[in-house]
Amino acid sequence: MTLAFRSGLVALLSGDLLTGKVAMVTGAGRGIGEGIARKLAQEGAIVVCADVNQTDASNVASSLSPTGLGVRLDVSTASECDAVVTSVHERYGRLDILVNNAGINRDAMLHKMTDDQWHQVIAVDLSGVFFMTRAASRIMRAAGSGRIVNISSASWMGNIGQANYSAAKAGVVGLSRTASKELARSQVTVNAICPGFIDTVMTRGIPDAIREQQVAKIPLGRMGQPSDVAAVVAFLASDEAGYVTGEVINVGGGYVL
Ligand code: NAI
Repeated sequence: MTLAFRSGLVALLSGDLLTGKVAMVTGAGRGIGEGIARKLAQEGAIVVCADVNQTDASNVASSLSPTGLGVRLDVSTASECDAVVTSVHERYGRLDILVNNAGINRDAMLHKMTDDQWHQVIAVDLSGVFFMTRAASRIMRAAGSGRIVNISSASWMGNIGQANYSAAKAGVVGLSRTASKELARSQVTVNAICPGFIDTVMTRGIPDAIREQQVAKIPLGRMGQPSDVAAVVAFLASDEAGYVTGEVINVGGGYVL
């Protein structure tokens, strides 16, 4: 067993994969983002929980160990993204990990989709990832290191009722791959994760019959939990994943559209 492999294994087992790192997770107030924030803190990172819902962000941050920082952030506004990233950098002197997780859906069949439904989803799910990645990349380029993990979706392949969401999530894949190429020379990695059907508020509104149909299509036979996504984020955010970039990783129990 090589020394590097053994130290990686020890870090994985002891839960200090990310000790000394400062991470920022958008949409960390609940659901997958909360799960990611909890896992990164469990691995030793100081986690800034950013969410449009300030109360949720603060509640999650204060329950973490080490204690995180809860901030209000609407990722669809470029100036807010710039300001939050700058203030986190000033406060901690570094920003090692950015997880772009905040997202919304406004499903409708294409012929009935309103302009608002289209623009809202593109603004949060795609422009938000761009604004945050741009802001963080300036700091990470200067530092010569960094990890960016973008939460796309299995729906990026195309899904009925989700023209806006699929377009945004496919955009996240293209943005991630481009950013991975541009930032590679600065040793900043950028990867996208495509969760399948995960048990959160976003999916709890789906009628029972449709949920059951969806679960029946998952080879591993169950919906995913936020912790299933968080485990993959933690690995990609770690030093151990330094040679993995530009990847698009499904976390869907074997389900692909
Ligand atoms: P959720 O609806 O439970 O949580 C989303 C969080 O993002 C909330 O705390 C919300 O306040 C926050 N948020 C919404 N708009 C925001 C904005 N403009 N700025 C900052 N924060 C904002 O959703 P869930 O299920 O946890 O989804 C998280 C991510 O995972 C999203 O990007 C979603 O598209 C993606 N995803 C979810 C899947 C699922 O099955 N739940 C499947 C595939 C992808």
